[in-house]
Amino acid sequence: MKILVTGGTGYIGAHTVVELQQNGYDVVIIDNLSNSYPEVIQSIQKITGILPAFEKIEMCDKAQLNDFFKRNQDIDGVIHFAAFKAVGESTLFPLKYFHNNLFSLVNLLSSMQDNKIKSLVFSSSCTVYGQPDKLPVDENSPVQTASSPYGETKQISEKIISSQIAVSDLNAILLRYFNPIGAHESALIGEFPIGIPSNLVPFITQTAIGKRECLNVFGNDYDTPDGTCIRDYIYVVDLAKAHVKALNRLLGQQQENKCEIFNLGTGRGNSVMEAIKSFELVSGKKLNYKIAPRRDGDVAKIWADCTLANKKLGWIAEKNLDEMMLSAWNWEKHLAENFKK
Ligand code: UD1
Repeated sequence: MKILVTGGTGYIGAHTVVELQQNGYDVVIIDNLSNSYPEVIQSIQKITGILPAFEKIEMCDKAQLNDFFKRNQDIDGVIHFAAFKAVGESTLFPLKYFHNNLFSLVNLLSSMQDNKIKSLVFSSSCTVYGQPDKLPVDENSPVQTASSPYGETKQISEKIISSQIAVSDLNAILLRYFNPIGAHESALIGEFPIGIPSNLVPFITQTAIGKRECLNVFGNDYDTPDGTCIRDYIYVVDLAKAHVKALNRLLGQQQENKCEIFNLGTGRGNSVMEAIKSFELVSGKKLNYKIAPRRDGDVAKIWADCTLANKKLGWIAEKNLDEMMLSAWNWEKHLAENFKK
């Protein structure tokens, strides 16, 4: 079966392409390369032995997308990753985020309808829950005011998809990720932020390797045991495997309704300080960090109840924090040796 992966040269996209290929799927990637490098295609080939088809496409340009689908009439399902994802940037440039993340989705859904493609896996986020009243948070928790335009685009995207489902043959699985970290065990693909990273783990590894001077820990006065924020860090390869399970479920018509939602996390919360300690343990390096003011838009604590994904997708996160941190560190060292951008 042929699967279109939008944003397939990006961080989670590339890891998912590997898992799809290793599970016998034929993959075609589209990406505008705004936050990724085309070299990722060759790295995927090194891991799987298969070069995925790739086209540089701007999904916000309807004509380009139409033309792509005209030339690719044999697509059975779509996994849609392509989106901007920097929370801080989205607060400065909200229109950039609404334009990119929503137009690309609307264009995709319209092309899927025109081409009678009925199966969609969508990359959503735990950000839709805001700061939940009850932890761990399950899929029935109310969607609350998002803390950033980025978060709003994920909430609106979920609504757009469910509205389209109501009037068409579309079936979708919305995957709400917690905090994806780490890199493939081969260290050939991983997170590769362009410019200064906004996420914690690439900032930690870049500081340790000497690319950044010091990690700012955003706040140590939260209502948590050590005062720093708590997140549910999930291994990117575990996350990628969940996409294959979701796709199998869609294409095998095993869904219980046309729109299903699953949390993807480990069910465990770790603080920023615990993440730093874990990194120091597995790398044997002392990290240069300092306590800084809270960052706008951060929630104090969130971790997942993943019972639904465990039961319905038959999926469980396998790697622990130390293993994830070690994989991220191996990737950073690989980058330093092989890929000086
Ligand atoms: C955010 C989004 C999440 C999204 C992800 C993608 C929210 C609430 N969450 O996750 O939905 O999928 O970005 O980019 O919108 N930290 C530091 N120093 C740093 C960087 C981060 O202390 O230099 C702390 C943050 O305060 C936070 C934790 O590390 O407590 C994780 O931050 P980050 O990796 O940026 O992810 P989230 O903000 O949780």
